[in-house]
Amino acid sequence: MVKICCIGAGYVGGPTMAVIAVKCPKDVVTVVDISTQRINGWNSDHLPIYEPGLDDVVKQCRGKNLFFSTEVEKHVAEADIVFVSVNTPTKTHGLGAGKAADLTYWESAARMIADVSKSDKIVVEKSTVPVKTAEAIERILTHNNKGINFTILSNPEFLAEGTAIQDLFHPDRVLIGGRETPEGQKAIQTLKQVYANWVPVEKILCTNLWSAELSKLAANAFLAQRISSVNAMSALCEATGADVTQVSHATGTDSRIGPKFLNASVGFGGSCFQKDILNLVYICECNALPEVANYWKQVIKVNDYQKTRFVNRVVSSMFNTISSKKIAVLGFAFKKDTGDTRETPAIDVCKGLLGDKAKLCIYDPQVTEDQITKDLSMRKFDKDHPAHLQPPSPSSIKQVSVVWDAYEAVKDAHGVCILTEWDEFRKLDYKKVYDSMQKPAFIFDGRNIVDVNKVREIGFIVYSIGKPLDPWLKDMPAVVA
Ligand code: NAI
Repeated sequence: MVKICCIGAGYVGGPTMAVIAVKCPKDVVTVVDISTQRINGWNSDHLPIYEPGLDDVVKQCRGKNLFFSTEVEKHVAEADIVFVSVNTPTKTHGLGAGKAADLTYWESAARMIADVSKSDKIVVEKSTVPVKTAEAIERILTHNNKGINFTILSNPEFLAEGTAIQDLFHPDRVLIGGRETPEGQKAIQTLKQVYANWVPVEKILCTNLWSAELSKLAANAFLAQRISSVNAMSALCEATGADVTQVSHATGTDSRIGPKFLNASVGFGGSCFQKDILNLVYICECNALPEVANYWKQVIKVNDYQKTRFVNRVVSSMFNTISSKKIAVLGFAFKKDTGDTRETPAIDVCKGLLGDKAKLCIYDPQVTEDQITKDLSMRKFDKDHPAHLQPPSPSSIKQVSVVWDAYEAVKDAHGVCILTEWDEFRKLDYKKVYDSMQKPAFIFDGRNIVDVNKVREIGFIVYSIGKPLDPWLKDMPAVVA
């Protein structure tokens, strides 16, 4: 029996450990967190995060070999393997502000591990961290070690929110990085045996520590780069009359390119892509590689451009003013099948629309009013810190209402912005939507989910990213100087 403890009961720690527990019934897995609210959630019928399939997995093993606790020190002290899956937000102050990873939470977890440990441990980096973090953590652990051996491994997580359980059950690969010493190699084998309970061994890749750390940043940078590439094409499609869906299909059928991550949209979001690319940029700059840093910076610039372009399309189509006009916002989460709103493009789009004094009525099937209010009032980067350490936000925002039904949101609206690709938005009765709106009625589809011809036939003026422009929009500027 292996005793596993995971520090951080978030979007990664919770689902990852639940899957390890269900697949390794002989091992005991405890997930600990400093947030009492989070742990209470994990021990209740309403798990603190929404993820398809997660409830079932947790129900199968919670109380048997899966436990959630706030007794951080006790469980860390007892464990053979300690995963660390805490927040690694972007720094907001000081050296590297706005780019470098803030390792405050990681460092305090490492110091605590060193303080409370009484037996040898394998410490596993699960959080996404800058290259060479393992070396820094090793120093903290070994300088406080009281004769205890700590072996550090990097085991970055590649799950995607919304499909986390499927991704964890059937990963493309599991990556384990360790020192090329006998202790390092032995620790790699111990962790490999845990995953080998359900992952084919040929999919468990073993590398040195730095390669594992950098591979995670590289994977996220490549994924985000594909989205920015297709989004850059979408602007060109609108200018030329090409259709981005046709272009990305034709491009993606090339087996060297492949079809995934080629959907044009209002932009990427999520806690990782921007943060990890900024982190990569910072590492490049620190290593005197400005050309490489600038290359990756561009991925974020195009993402920001895409959101600005979308807001400009809304404002310029509606006679250059949306002041006091009701705009329905359908979807706030950064993608479908998650309630996560960190870095969602909806935040920047809504702030842009509010900047032009629109009245917003927002509906998302998984995001609460409280969360939306927080997101629209918080400073960039603050939201990636533990919830109980975030600054308080107002209980409501003037000009914003949040409702629990799409038809309620669109009632009397001048325009509808679709910002998340929830399946239910594909199935809406758009005739009913049209009938309840002010005329002319506009749809701005930031996820290309509506059938443009059908809704145009109903009477809507439609803007769909990267599609041939509605005659109405043709002479309107895409980006206002
Ligand atoms: P999260 O914010 O959902 O969870 C982190 C948890 O750690 C919070 O509940 C916080 O209270 C807790 N925590 C912070 N310091 C602690 C301490 N000293 N002791 C105990 N608990 C502590 O974050 P999430 O999304 O799970 O991400 C964790 C890491 O995994 C980040 O580095 C992220 O970049 C990485 N990652 C995230 C993915 C995602 O899809 N969300 C995917 C792959 C990696």
